[in-house]
Amino acid sequence: MISNICCIGAGFVGGPTMAVIADRCPSVKVTVVDINSERINAWNNSDLSKLPVYEPGLDQVIERARNRNLFFSIDVKSAIASADMVFISVNTPTKTQGLGAGKASDLRWVEACARQVASFAKGHTIVVEKSTLPVRTAEVIQNILKAAQDASKNKTSSSTFSVLSNPEFLAEGTAVKDLEAPDRVLIGGDNKDAIESLVSIYRNWVPENKILRTNIWSSELAKLTANAFLAQRISSINSIGALCEATGADIREVARAIGTDSRIGSKFLEAGPGFGGSCFKKDILNLVYLSRYFGLPEVADFWEEVVKLNTWHQQRISSIIVKKLFGTLSGKRIAILGFAFKANTNDTRESSAIQIGKDLLDEGANLAIHDPKVDPNQIEKDLGLQQVNKDEFERISNNNYGSWSFFNEASKACSSADAVLILTEWYQYSQINWDEIALEMRKPAWVFDARSIVDSDKVVNAGLNFWRVGDGA
Ligand code: NAD
Ligand code: UGA
Repeated sequence: MISNICCIGAGFVGGPTMAVIADRCPSVKVTVVDINSERINAWNNSDLSKLPVYEPGLDQVIERARNRNLFFSIDVKSAIASADMVFISVNTPTKTQGLGAGKASDLRWVEACARQVASFAKGHTIVVEKSTLPVRTAEVIQNILKAAQDASKNKTSSSTFSVLSNPEFLAEGTAVKDLEAPDRVLIGGDNKDAIESLVSIYRNWVPENKILRTNIWSSELAKLTANAFLAQRISSINSIGALCEATGADIREVARAIGTDSRIGSKFLEAGPGFGGSCFKKDILNLVYLSRYFGLPEVADFWEEVVKLNTWHQQRISSIIVKKLFGTLSGKRIAILGFAFKANTNDTRESSAIQIGKDLLDEGANLAIHDPKVDPNQIEKDLGLQQVNKDEFERISNNNYGSWSFFNEASKACSSADAVLILTEWYQYSQINWDEIALEMRKPAWVFDARSIVDSDKVVNAGLNFWRVGDGA
């Protein structure tokens, strides 16, 4: 029976996942550890609005479980030593240099975890891959652990290990809901006892028929495949959106028409500014790398096109804005509403707002950026450019290079703007009073709705020009 869990990595997955496990399994002690002490301090902050991850409902889960059976700590060694089960939930970004640079996953953090577990674990420990990993990574982890196991055979207290794959399917913004009522829990492994130990944790709240048991390689590959299929739908719908704009069709109508076919289904058919988030791009590129590595270039090319189309689509939106604003953005003010890669998260990783924002800055635009949850310091890092203070921003009128400033209110960001660009589907943007905003904008003024969330009639009736993604009307 599992009574003590350690999770290495207190990020967007480790934090919420362990919070829900602790909440649903009050008799199990769950300790989440991280080398980033700032992050751990934020998870321990008594002010629940300051948690490092914004997710609807997460604050209540943390409030119930924290310091009862859920703990956040930087003491990696003792958390591993006392655990019967260790989840590895660390970052696995795309390699930036060396073999496979730009495509393969950088496994240095996973390897470091395996070595830490090998050094500190006591007795029998079940090691669970929670991070998204290339197929056959479990082999790497097993090898490192086996070396430790062999070395410990001569000592009095020997350690033994089983490795499982248990990829996470939560989406940001709905993480708590996804964790509390998952479509499925996937567990891959070859040690039946270890699999059933992990099943016994999930069975505290997940019905048996939603728990899938597979071999370890199928589990690793299923995770990459799920993300590739989801991202593929978005590139598919965005590609047809471009065709709608050229032909007079409307992507919302096309999506409704195809989504009612039960074989296609209606979800994930929303045209937007291109997919963002920390995983779709990296996981597809990883799949591309693996396909080439295993001698399947046609398979690699097929999936690589999904990412290429996404990049093209983001650039397409920037160039539409430039064209509509008379071919130049120099000195023009553009309000960017939403910087997170989707609504209900403070995460900006791979957000389309980054690429589109940089393109507009390159054209000399002055960006007035608003987002209800994203920290302006993060935007500064993402754009690689310091924001200018409000007074200076208001004074800038004719510049060849772009600038940006953060606004706490969307309406203030739109004031004096030549255009408003909606990049994240935050609910509040669908409620904007365009009559009021129009009074404050410089004419001729535009609204570019890359998320299709505003009522076009209201924008047009307010005397503003309107463009939205995939609308050829
Ligand atoms: P993240 O960057 O938010 O968090 C990872 C954390 O691991 C960081 O805080 C980092 O400091 C910590 N860390 C790295 N090495 C460590 C070590 N040796 N010891 C202790 N801590 C260490 O990443 P994330 O978004 O939580 O993603 C984690 C994994 O889950 C990735 O493989 C990702 O692909 C996968 N995943 C992410 C999501 C998502 O929505 N973000 C969903 C499903 C799966
Ligand atoms: C995605 C998957 O949905 C999760 O199942 C998976 O666990 C996770 O990746 C991961 O492995 O990291 P996430 O990236 O958090 O979750 O969010 P999604 O809801 O999938 O959205 C991804 C991007 O696609 C966002 O930029 C979103 O705005 C965009 N999107 C989504 C669209 O443009 N249109 C849609 O119809 C749906």
